[in-house]
Parts: sequence; structure tokens; C-alpha cells
Amino acid sequence: MPSLLRVEDIKKYFPVERGIFKKEVARIRAVDGISFSLDKGETLSLVGESGCGKTTVARLILRLLEPTSGAIYFKGQNISTLDRKEMFKVRGLMQIIFQDPFGSLNPRQRVGDIIGEALSIHNLAQDRRRERIGELLRTVGLEEECIWRYPHQFSGGQRQRIGIARALAVEPELMVCDEPISALDVSIQAQILNLLKELQERFDLSFIFIAHDLAVVKHISHRVVIMYLGKIVELAETEELYSNPLHPYTKALLSAIPTIEKRERIVLRGEIPDPSHPPKGCRFHTRCPIAKPECSEREPAPKEVTKGHLVSCYLF
Ligand SMILES: Nc1ncnc2c1ncn2[C@@H]1O[C@H](COP(=O)(O)OP(=O)(O)OP(=O)(O)O)[C@@H](O)[C@H]1O
Ligand SMILES: [Mg+2]
Repeated sequence: MPSLLRVEDIKKYFPVERGIFKKEVARIRAVDGISFSLDKGETLSLVGESGCGKTTVARLILRLLEPTSGAIYFKGQNISTLDRKEMFKVRGLMQIIFQDPFGSLNPRQRVGDIIGEALSIHNLAQDRRRERIGELLRTVGLEEECIWRYPHQFSGGQRQRIGIARALAVEPELMVCDEPISALDVSIQAQILNLLKELQERFDLSFIFIAHDLAVVKHISHRVVIMYLGKIVELAETEELYSNPLHPYTKALLSAIPTIEKRERIVLRGEIPDPSHPPKGCRFHTRCPIAKPECSEREPAPKEVTKGHLVSCYLF
């Protein structure tokens, strides 16, 4: 069976322009040659520090941004070459949920209208439409009466539920969740994660789930991708990644999770380098605790160490 989504060697470089003639002086390599696939009903998480290119990948998948190069296949079709009309049909099968549920909901619209607007692609009769809005609200754990209220009358967690109901309204197959719980209280985070998991089982949804730490994604991901400065450094099934991390960067991210039996914390030195001038060789070598001289010379190619476990590091 082909994958639902396949991303092939995508790159996105943003120009840095100066002066009145907008001369290009550098290029930010936000995403620099990334490939992965996603199956139906699967959750693949993208994890990495701020600025490593996670949101850019999300926007490329939805074609909210055009890639500098590479291709994206959705249900076997190369969507990178679709025209506006063809893309409109595909877009209905993909939805994005953002970190800030307040910023993404129109404050002047009632909840009923926010969800109703998303439903408009289905051409439902008025009474059926009202019924469907109620159904969607109940599906995400909200009362039907919420339709009369405005976004500011809800808590952060509830607003995120409204955002999820709106995304579900179009009956998508793929949901891209860009840090959907980062802005929420810890006690609420687990509730939203459970809701997403429940919806996945019920509607056979596929998720790309973005987060910047590994603690959050463990219980919802089937596979995890670790990103660093626009590249994938490691990709593995969740169990395998947490029990047998290979890349020194993954090990550092894992050591930052507070656990009961204290693991030794690996603190990375230095700052994340400037993505317009990434380090030569392995991009991580400037911060790597075990870097060797050769790491600054050539870039390590991704290697499949065991089935489905990829790592880009000279040690392997
Ligand atoms: N429209 C843009 N124009 C120029 N540079 C951009 C643009 N969008 C993103 N970038 C740059 O691309 C890099 C990757 O950004 P991106 O937002 O994808 O990172 P991220 O991993 O989502 O980070 P965060 O965890 O902070 O959300 C950053 O250096 C960012 O400054
Ligand atoms: Mg982001």
C-alpha cells in the first residue's frame, strides 16, 4: 500500500535581502533536504529545537509555501505540481492546527459560525448543518450550547478543542498539528493529547505532530523524526528511539526529560548556529560532545542502522 504522504528531499531556502534593490546577500536554509513518509492512521512526530525548520516543513506539506526543490506526494499524487483548482480539492483532505488557538480563531465570530464556515464545503442543508456543528462540538468534548459563544469566553484548552472541531469539519485524512499543546497548562496538555489519540482511532486520521521536546510526543507517536538545523538527524519507531537513541543530539534531548530515576543530563554547549551559514560537515559538530576532527569535514549520509532506524552520524 502506498503511503498517505511522502516527502522527498524537500528544501526551502528563504532569501535574505539587503538595500533598496533587494540584493540577495544570503539564504536561510530552513529545510535542507528532508525525506520521510506517513502511513494512514499513523502519527509521525517532528521534534527539534526552535528554528530547526519544523513549521516550515508543515507549511510545505500544506503548500502554504512553495519548496525550493523536492516533491511532496499525497495519496500517490505529486501535489507540488498541482494548479490552484486541483490543490483546492487536496487541501480539503489536509488540515493544520496551530500552537496559539486564540490567534487562529476569529474573535468576532461565534463558535457556531467558525465551525459552520469550515462546513460550508459540504453544502449541507441548514438544519443538518446545525446538527453537524453540535455533533462536532460533542466529538471534541464541548457542550452544544457553545455555538453561541465567542472564542474569548473559553479557556486555552477549550479554544484548542474548537480549533480541532473546525479542522474535523472538513473530514480530513491528514492533520498537521504544529505544537498544539505548547501554549497550554500541563494539566490540560494530556487531555488534548488524549483527545487527538481518540480522534485518530475513531476517524483513522494520520497526524504530523510537531513538538520541541521529546517528553510530549512519546505516548502519541508511532515514529519520531529528530531535526537539527533543517536536516533529519535520526528517525525511528517510538519504542526504539526512546530505548536505543543513537545520535548524540537525540541523547541530549532525551536527557532533558525529567524522569524519576535521574538520568545524567547532557547539556549542549553553544547556541544553535545561524541557518544561513550552517557549519560545514556535520551540522551538529559545533555542539556535539563527542565530535571528532572528521565531523567538520564531510556531511554524514543518513544510514539505516536497523530496519526503520535511520541516523546521520559518523559513528554509525
Ligand atoms: N518566511 C520566512 N522568511 C525568512 N525566514 C524564515 C521564514 N520562515 C521561517 N524562517 C526561518 O527559517 C528557520 C526555520 O523556521 P521554522 O519556523 O520552520 O522553525 P521551527 O522549528 O518551527 O521553530 P519554532 O520551534 O520556534 O516554532 C528559522 O531560522 C526561521 O527564522
Ligand atoms: Mg514552529
